[in-house]
Amino acid sequence: MRQTVHSLTRQLIERKARGEKLAVLTAYDYPTARLLDEAGVDMVLVGDSLGMVVLGLPDTTGVDMNAMLHHAAAVRRAVKRAPVVVDLPAHSYDDPEQALQNAERLVRAGADAVKLEGGLAVIEQVRAITRAGIGYIGHIGMLPQSVKLDGGYKKKGKLEEDALRLLEDAHALEDAGAAAIVLESIVSEVALRITQSVKIPTIGIGSGDGCDAQVLVTHDLIGAFPWFKPPFARSRANVAQEITRAAKEFLAEVKRER
Ligand code: KIV
Repeated sequence: MRQTVHSLTRQLIERKARGEKLAVLTAYDYPTARLLDEAGVDMVLVGDSLGMVVLGLPDTTGVDMNAMLHHAAAVRRAVKRAPVVVDLPAHSYDDPEQALQNAERLVRAGADAVKLEGGLAVIEQVRAITRAGIGYIGHIGMLPQSVKLDGGYKKKGKLEEDALRLLEDAHALEDAGAAAIVLESIVSEVALRITQSVKIPTIGIGSGDGCDAQVLVTHDLIGAFPWFKPPFARSRANVAQEITRAAKEFLAEVKRER
């Protein structure tokens, strides 16, 4: 039985066909999400990167469904225009039934689509989600939720056999109904090959400028997390410096008043 194509998938295929480039940013709270939506971003991602940049965890593996539901609801209250995509956190999609149940919870919290990491290895989970009519975004390449298994954050697609596996993953996700696929830390030439071989947009992060879209963690874009800066992310503001300046000014003023 042929399933119907989700409206987000149809819309994104059309935008790619028109040659549109898309800009995606993360948000985890109401004010940031509202500012990004009003600025015109094409998609707001409630990423599990919130583990590091909001919750102070060492990586994304400690983020759970409760955290994602809490932040998804805050972002939903803010965003009126752009699609809101929410990450399924680590171990929330270990089998197809669990994946579907948790995807439904995120949709009830306000997600227009969910994202989960992996290709062929999680294809039954992806099918369970798309068959239920839930919007879905793929994520292949470097998978932060597997950082411990993988022994660190490593560039993907360096060998031809790895590139072929990534292409296979991308096609499997497209066939399963993905609306777009995040390509994280993939060798640029391989990211370009994937981009040219699928109809749905690829959303690159650290994968060169040949992708259809680019995504950044907003804290990296605005310089709000000064303790770690990914090499590919260009900060266009220095929010950390502004917070420190304002706090110090306030402190000095209050202490002078004594
Ligand atoms: O969690 C996240 O913010 C992400 C992006 C980096 C793609 O998955």
